[in-house]
Amino acid sequence: MKVTATLAALASISAVTAAPSGGPGRHGPGGHHGPKGKYPGLDVLAKRAGLQYFGTAIDNVVLNNTQYTSIAHNKSEFGQVTPSNGMKWMFTEPERGVFNWTAALEIVKPARKARQLTRCHAFVWHTQLPAWIDHTNWTKPELVSILENHIKNEARAFKDDCIAWDVVNEAFNEDGTYRETIFYKVIGKEYIELAFKFARKYTPRKTMLYYNDYNIETVNNKSLAVAELVKDFQRRRIPIDGVGLQAHYTVGRSPSYQQQMDVMKMFNDLKMEVAMTELDVRQPTLPETQEMRIQQAEAYRDAVKACRDAKNCIGVTVWDFWDPVSWVPYTFPGQGNACLWDDNFNKKEAYYYISDMLRE
Ligand code: XIL
Repeated sequence: MKVTATLAALASISAVTAAPSGGPGRHGPGGHHGPKGKYPGLDVLAKRAGLQYFGTAIDNVVLNNTQYTSIAHNKSEFGQVTPSNGMKWMFTEPERGVFNWTAALEIVKPARKARQLTRCHAFVWHTQLPAWIDHTNWTKPELVSILENHIKNEARAFKDDCIAWDVVNEAFNEDGTYRETIFYKVIGKEYIELAFKFARKYTPRKTMLYYNDYNIETVNNKSLAVAELVKDFQRRRIPIDGVGLQAHYTVGRSPSYQQQMDVMKMFNDLKMEVAMTELDVRQPTLPETQEMRIQQAEAYRDAVKACRDAKNCIGVTVWDFWDPVSWVPYTFPGQGNACLWDDNFNKKEAYYYISDMLRE
């Protein structure tokens, strides 16, 4: 899987980290040369602007890189963390009924120590499943009981850690129809409500239960399908508290500030809390030009600005902050440079655009 690919990339990463890191002065044609106090950290600024947190995903593959971990667990930059992989089914229940929290705890433990909040990701998703589960020979009751047992054990393992759980991830196609996952094929669309019921049964009442997806950051067929799901749940008293907008964007194609505001308003009208759960803005081609860097900075700024301004958006999480560990080049070959920190741990224009906007 990709984690192995990332591990293979580690050799090159250690070479990269030896390079000196530049300060703000190296960046920003707009003159982002201000005193250090101007940039106290993204989480500090986000909280001052009224958000609950600014966070990051953290991956296990670079936890031996102290330059990486010192930023990842720096509470001034990131008041919240999400394990990029460690809470997924293939790592947490690699054999039926055999649970393993090692990868998740490698991130959760330092987060506890640093007093960072944790978003937990994800109970039910159609990829990164262990091989033992990924076939359709199950009967419906068997797979329902597997689902319940998985959610029960994982919810209990992290019961005091999770401010929110992504209960179901990516259940819809772009046209708003249900994605034909293993759970859909065996259980039917009720797998979604069952997952939320189980999540409510086994998590503390204060844990927010989210539906999470990508390409729902504008009002479109997919986000309207999510809104319908929410309405249906509310009519039938099935628990759901929030909608996660993954926000995986591409330079030149990212949604506008207003489009993001509109979709968050749509969910606000349904009393749904929202969060930007996996924000990144990738370059569609590489190498990038300075103009593309500025466009990226504007897209990052507009996303965070929309979250700040929307009544129901509680925080923003970037899907890792450092380019060498971004998922983008592995998933979209030829694309990349999607994060806020470059290969040499220099903060990009986007970092300063977000900070300046939050300071307004
Ligand atoms: C990605 C991870 O970052 C990668 O390391 C892994 O190989 C694949 O998954 N949407 C999600 C995340 O909800 O779980 C995905 O994370 C990125 C897309």
